[in-house]
Amino acid sequence: MQRGEDAQMMLRARLRTDAEGRYHFWSIKPTFYPVPDDGPVGDMLRHMRRHPNRPGHIHLMLKHPGHQTLTTHLFVSDSPYLDSDAVFGVRNSLVVDFTRHPAGTAPDGRVLNKPYYTARYDFRLVPAAEHATA
Ligand SMILES: [Fe+2]
Repeated sequence: MQRGEDAQMMLRARLRTDAEGRYHFWSIKPTFYPVPDDGPVGDMLRHMRRHPNRPGHIHLMLKHPGHQTLTTHLFVSDSPYLDSDAVFGVRNSLVVDFTRHPAGTAPDGRVLNKPYYTARYDFRLVPAAEHATA
């Protein structure tokens, strides 16, 4: 389901890294979903004999002063549709394993009474000057 402007921060968050650039957050393990296919996009997909599904993913926009803003996704490695994303967004470098753990103490010290997943991804932002000359 797509969320409209009436729910601007629903399923979204603004995060800051610590002084060493580390970050972590809690979320749900993303699952696949269909893009709206009741209009011209659906017509195009049907004409191309393509399904409307996107694999499970997280959208990210990373900003740091003096660096090029990075807008990207991370995709769940065991999600359906990784090889046929309706919008062709999947890159192997953006596919991440979500490791299942039994109930217990999570890396941040939180104690959970049910299984949970962890995923890790290190980003590298390109300095704006370096990006301008590339
Ligand atoms: Fe999405």
